[in-house]
Amino acid sequence: MEKDHGVLSDQPTGAEEDQLEVTLRPQKLREYIGQPKIKHELQVYIKAAQAREEALDHVLLYGPPGLGKTTLAMVIANEMGVNIKTTSGPAIEKPGDLVALLNELKPGDVLFIDEIHRLPKVVEEMLYSAMEDYYIDIVIGEGPTAHPVHFPLPPFTLIGATTRAGMLSAPLRDRFGIVEHMNYYTTEELTKIIFRSATIFNTNIEDEGAHELALRSRGTPRIANRLLKRVRDFAQVAGQHSIDSPIVKKALTLLQVDDRGLDETDRKMLLTMINFYHGGPVGLKTIAANIGEETNTIEEMYEPYLIQIGFISRTPRGRMVTPAAYEHLGFTYPTDKN
Ligand code: ADE
Repeated sequence: MEKDHGVLSDQPTGAEEDQLEVTLRPQKLREYIGQPKIKHELQVYIKAAQAREEALDHVLLYGPPGLGKTTLAMVIANEMGVNIKTTSGPAIEKPGDLVALLNELKPGDVLFIDEIHRLPKVVEEMLYSAMEDYYIDIVIGEGPTAHPVHFPLPPFTLIGATTRAGMLSAPLRDRFGIVEHMNYYTTEELTKIIFRSATIFNTNIEDEGAHELALRSRGTPRIANRLLKRVRDFAQVAGQHSIDSPIVKKALTLLQVDDRGLDETDRKMLLTMINFYHGGPVGLKTIAANIGEETNTIEEMYEPYLIQIGFISRTPRGRMVTPAAYEHLGFTYPTDKN
């Protein structure tokens, strides 16, 4: 790739973009920005497992989407010096699919299952003995020729990722020795990630530009990286050599991402609650039906950030819009709500 992104340089192709996505991922824990508590703990567990020449205990990573669960799983495998097989809950449809995956593992390898809460029940139940004692019992054949087969496995590490730990059954959750909650990133951490990504993209970005972008990335590296690519496009077409704060503001205003990182759906949700339900309390299903989103999408993608920044509160009678959100949207908080 050329060093200097002049105005006339070609746009990357789709394949190049995919490649960039891969190279954006840090390889080692020391390159991984943020999540200090998790990194510190993992460093200890990895070192101890390596000293004992054992597989790392099973790891459950949970938290909102886009915070780097897959990246962290890859970093763990890399630090352990083992191979990683990645799959997802919905992709493993039947026990045979899981057997095929487990069959390829070598001692110490990592099996990463994203969206592990979406595993079919029969598959999940097979995982219990695989995780606890490294074997599976399967039935081969059908009808009169059906017979059980005991299938020993090498010691391995299962890394499961989920958006909500509460969606996992207790027996599965209890089999993870290491359980880590991924938090939203601070503005400072996101700024560092943006600088790192800009370097990989061969793009110049000014301190204020990176800071402004970080503020609008809702604590999420995936969003920061996506917005960085879009802002880079705007800067390039505008003939700007470097991404500064004004071009970030201009591009994100066009993309309808506001100065707290809220997008159209966030605003639609809050405005519906304010205009039609007096700011709540209002049930999740009612909100979902009104704005045409799945309840799961709201609960996993939109609501956690709005709760984190104090724009929504959860009460036993439903969700409520807070005074801070009224103010952000330019509304007066109704006096009869105090
Ligand atoms: N890119 C995306 N997430 C990252 C992280 N946590 N650290 C470094 N680079 C990243």
